[in-house]
Amino acid sequence: MAANPAAGPASLRGRAEIREALIDVVEAIRSGESRVLVLRGEPGIGKSALLEHAIEIGSEARVERAAGVESEAELPFAGLHDLCAPMLDHAERLPPPQRDALRAVFGLGVNGRPNGLFVGLAVLSLFREVGRERPLLCVVDDAQWLDSASAQVLGFVARRLERAPIGLLLAARGSAELGEFAGLEEIEVDRLPESDSRELLASVVRVPLDEGVRDRLVAESCGNPLALVELARAMARSDDGHAPLPAAGPTTARSALSKWSRHGQDGRVPDRGSERSMAVILRL
Ligand SMILES: Nc1ncnc2c1ncn2[C@@H]1O[C@H](COP(=O)(O)OP(=O)(O)OP(=O)(O)O)[C@@H](O)[C@H]1O
Ligand SMILES: [Mg+2]
Repeated sequence: MAANPAAGPASLRGRAEIREALIDVVEAIRSGESRVLVLRGEPGIGKSALLEHAIEIGSEARVERAAGVESEAELPFAGLHDLCAPMLDHAERLPPPQRDALRAVFGLGVNGRPNGLFVGLAVLSLFREVGRERPLLCVVDDAQWLDSASAQVLGFVARRLERAPIGLLLAARGSAELGEFAGLEEIEVDRLPESDSRELLASVVRVPLDEGVRDRLVAESCGNPLALVELARAMARSDDGHAPLPAAGPTTARSALSKWSRHGQDGRVPDRGSERSMAVILRL
């Protein structure tokens, strides 16, 4: 573990409270306790960055990870497959019905849809077997896109970890009903305070920015790190001081970006003052 994980990596601004919660997860599993934590928040707010931070500070643990993929949301057990495949060598120690259920999920055994309860129990047993050797940290990003079969199994497992060195960290977009993960401990990843946004901006821009430009970038990004980075990038790309509106991006970032269009014609930043001559060079 890093000497002072609460200080965080140089690249991660703010988030002291959430980092403390992640340290708690890491320390709990190191001492044989289970923990489950769901990070929720709007696109670009920093959920994945926080998961990466958890992996960094939890490097003593065995880390297994998966991510929901929108195009695979209809494929039963696709997410679970990604998460569990590297641990399958421990399946031999499972009771035969659980082992068979797991095999069926992975297309290695009997055909037909496996029994959901047995799959849930099998994954629980698998995690416990792996945890006997070393604390296990399971990290699932973009959980909003997990296929429902995987989400159901992980929700089942998350509620039954009890005393075992197993951590389950999930990140999901939005604040609507969490479905299979409802009722689990969760933290809302809020917008960055202005001071952290300023620090983040300073860390991605190599040259001193005109104060007015800096203020506008910080204000327009509304505390969303992705929006801030994208806005700075858009400014950097324009060698005449105009920032063309990016064509795509997560909804919130895009809506923050779209505000540029209100300041000038055809989605470009107005041609004024230091913005005209700005050739911003980013550390990206
Ligand atoms: N606290 C932070 N300090 C510095 N940079 C950050 C911070 N949070 C996020 N970022 C940066 O902002 C960008 C977006 O963050 P991230 O990908 O983690 O968002 P997200 O919430 O996972 O978004 P999505 O819902 O689209 O997956 C990344 O480049 C990330 O490194
Ligand atoms: Mg993400």
